[in-house]
Amino acid sequence: MSDIITAAIEGAGREDLLGMAMPETTKAAYVRREDSGMFEGLASEDKDPRASLKVGEIALPELAPDEAYVLIMASSINFNTVWTSIFEPLSTFGFLDRLGKESIWGARHATDTHVVGSDGAGIVLKTGSSVRSWGPGDQVTIHCNYVDDQDPSAHDDSMLASNQRIWGFETNFGGLAEIAVVKANQLMPKPTHLTWEESAVNALCNSTSYRMLVSGNGADMTQGDKVLVWGATGGLGAFAVQYVLNGGGTPVGVVSSASKVEILNELGVDAVIDRKEKGYRFWADEHTQDESEWRRLGKDIRGLIGDDVDIVFEHPGRQTMGASVFVTRRAGTIVTCAATSGYMIEYDNRHLWMKLKTIKGSHFANYREAWHANQLICEGKILPPLSAVFSLDQVGDATYQVHKNLHEGKIGVLCAAPSEGLGITNPELRAQVGEDRLNIFRRHDG
Ligand SMILES: NC(=O)c1ccc[n+]([C@@H]2O[C@H](COP(=O)([O-])OP(=O)(O)OC[C@H]3O[C@@H](n4cnc5c(N)ncnc54)[C@H](OP(=O)(O)O)[C@@H]3O)[C@@H](O)[C@H]2O)c1
Repeated sequence: MSDIITAAIEGAGREDLLGMAMPETTKAAYVRREDSGMFEGLASEDKDPRASLKVGEIALPELAPDEAYVLIMASSINFNTVWTSIFEPLSTFGFLDRLGKESIWGARHATDTHVVGSDGAGIVLKTGSSVRSWGPGDQVTIHCNYVDDQDPSAHDDSMLASNQRIWGFETNFGGLAEIAVVKANQLMPKPTHLTWEESAVNALCNSTSYRMLVSGNGADMTQGDKVLVWGATGGLGAFAVQYVLNGGGTPVGVVSSASKVEILNELGVDAVIDRKEKGYRFWADEHTQDESEWRRLGKDIRGLIGDDVDIVFEHPGRQTMGASVFVTRRAGTIVTCAATSGYMIEYDNRHLWMKLKTIKGSHFANYREAWHANQLICEGKILPPLSAVFSLDQVGDATYQVHKNLHEGKIGVLCAAPSEGLGITNPELRAQVGEDRLNIFRRHDG
């Protein structure tokens, strides 16, 4: 291990770190360009991330003036690492090649290895010459909105920037590594009451859920709203139900096991539907949806909360969108950020227009939204849904768990942190939030 990494882990200050040299390589999880066709002909569920994800030494690129090298103490698995590792719907090397053509700094990304990972909590090691707000030794979390702040289209709402990208998915040198390269405008303070692994699992899913529900750029949820949340203990859903509760609303969580029902009950979600137990068949066959099954879901929701929902928090996509549009109340909103089960969506448009409903698209979050969502974590008002922790060497296994929906909440990955449980600097706030509540997901793992 290089001196600067050891020093940072031991808590060295800014002056000490400034004088130390960076290593030339870093241990990282990556996929290889030459493997892009390795799963051709296989069904999605048979494509195995354990075969495509490698862990090894990767050369660190030179730092651009607006960037920082961050020692990643812990990271997490997001669904986008599943997509990269199974090369669906596209190989992410296409994204890197496009970025490579944009500028001399962009060219660093177009290599034959893609270092993945879109979350991270760690310590700033070095900053580029134009970075003003952060310096070596700062403890940070990283959000994944990667935008060029000299691009006029990136102002107002940076998610509307013409060259907006997701770090570690559409860029290289992501968070599943000991050292990552980030833009300074991705940095946010690390929550002081959380461990490294608890701090690392939030930024991507928490910010996405915040924009989808809370922000005026999303569904603009108001006090008392009733919200149907698909995958309510998954990465996005685990944050979504907390936002509904915090906003004085009523979440209706949909999950697929008794253990997940218990997690939701412990979080304070009383209205829960176990979709496996209910056995909904929204598609009678591959081409035909069954409206009577949408009605059955609607009836189940009314049975639980006595009303229809104002908002549906959508991401499963093809399997559920018809039902989601149907069960939303008159003038309600279906907010969607994904389509895990298929992106060619079908719904009955009569239920949309006759009842004046809106389908709202949403994607990650701008810096202000991500910052506010992080602030709520820092204040202990949103809990990190960490359920399990893997080592960097086990990234393939961890990604497999998410691909196969074997996980709950978020899976953390230890990168430079020597063990779990480190990084807490505010034990008083931790005690106030409560060890019990911080461990709801871990208690139910497996
Ligand atoms: N656009 C963005 O900014 C953004 C950000 C984050 C994630 N995403 C995307 O959003 C999707 C979900 O991400 P995530 O992190 O929440 O994943 P996740 O941790 O796997 O959770 C998703 C949950 O959805 C439920 N689900 C899966 N397939 C379903 C189906 N066919 N019908 C009903 N429920 C189903 C599962 O819960 P149960 O089995 O318990 O029902 C699963 O746990 C992924 O496609 C991801 O790429 C997009």
